[in-house]
Amino acid sequence: MSLDVNTLSERFEIPGHVVVKEGPAGLVLLDVTNTLGSSTIALQGAHIMTWAPRGEAPVIWLSPFGKFATGKSIRGGVPICWPWFGPHESDAKLPGHGYARTTMWEVVRTEAVGDSTRLVFRLIENSVTKAQWPHDTEVTLTVTVGQTLSIQLTTTNRSAQAVTLGDALHTYFEVKDVRDIKILGLENCPYIDKVDGQKRKQQQGPVTIDQEVDRIYLESTQDCILDDPGLQRKIRIAKRGSRSTVVWNPWIEKAAKMGDFGENGYLGMVCIESANAADDVISLAPGASHTLDVTYSVER
Ligand code: BG6
Repeated sequence: MSLDVNTLSERFEIPGHVVVKEGPAGLVLLDVTNTLGSSTIALQGAHIMTWAPRGEAPVIWLSPFGKFATGKSIRGGVPICWPWFGPHESDAKLPGHGYARTTMWEVVRTEAVGDSTRLVFRLIENSVTKAQWPHDTEVTLTVTVGQTLSIQLTTTNRSAQAVTLGDALHTYFEVKDVRDIKILGLENCPYIDKVDGQKRKQQQGPVTIDQEVDRIYLESTQDCILDDPGLQRKIRIAKRGSRSTVVWNPWIEKAAKMGDFGENGYLGMVCIESANAADDVISLAPGASHTLDVTYSVER
C-alpha cells in the first residue's frame, strides 16, 4: 500500500470526479468535484474538510486559522472520533476522541455512482494504535459526495471477545451567526452538561446558543434540523446507528485558548455530532459490525 500522491493518482483519480493532490503540511488530499457538489478529504483521519452542494455556500465549516500538521487533528470539517469519544475512560494520557482522526487511512476504492462520487477508506493500524487499542477491529468510512453528503463509519469486531467502543462524526457546520440559530430534534432529550459539572438535565424546546455549550444528548435517535435564518437555510442531519448527539460551541474564552479559531471564529460554527457516547457506547459481539450512518442535506 502506497500513500504517495502519484501512485494514488494513478489508482484512484476519476476524470470529472476525483483528483489527488498534496495539501498544506504535505497532507494528501482527495478533491471531489462532480455536477452535484464538491468536497475535499484528507487521508490523515479520512477527514472530510469541506462539502457543499453545487451553487451553495459551504455547509461544513473549516477554520481559516487551522494549523495543519502530521498527527494533529484539523480544526473543522468532519473529524472522526473513534474508538472512544472524549477523554479515554481510564487513561488520561491517551488522545481525546481516540486516534482515528490523526492516523492515516488508505483508500480502498473510488467510484462514480450516477452523478455522485463514492469513496471508501480503511484505517491503517500500526504499533502506536495497537498500543492504545489492543483489539482486532476493522474500521471503514464510506463517503458519498453529491447533492447530499452521506457518511457511513463501520466497525467490525474480528476478535473472539466482545469489544466496547464509542464513536462520533464531530461535524462542524457553517452558520451565519451562531447566536441566531436553532437546533430542532433534541426536544425533551436528557443530556449531560459538560460545562456544568456533568449534571444531567433535560432539553426544553429547541437548542439555542448564547454561551459555551458542550452537551451530550442521550437517547437522541431523531433527525436534527439546524435552522439558520442568516444563511436562509436548514441543514437536515439524518442518522441511523447513533443514539447520542453532541452539541458544542466553545464560545469566546475557550476558542481563544484553543488558538485555531481566529478572533470571532466561534460565531460562524456549531458542532452537531452524531455519536455513540457516554451511556450509549456500543458493545460489539465477536464477528459483529456496527455502522454509524449519517446524511446531511440542505433544505430551503
Ligand atoms: C467536543 C467535546 O465533542 O469536542 C468538547 O464535547 C471538546 O469537550 C470538543 O472540547 C473539541 O475537541 P478537540 O479535541 O477537537 O479540541
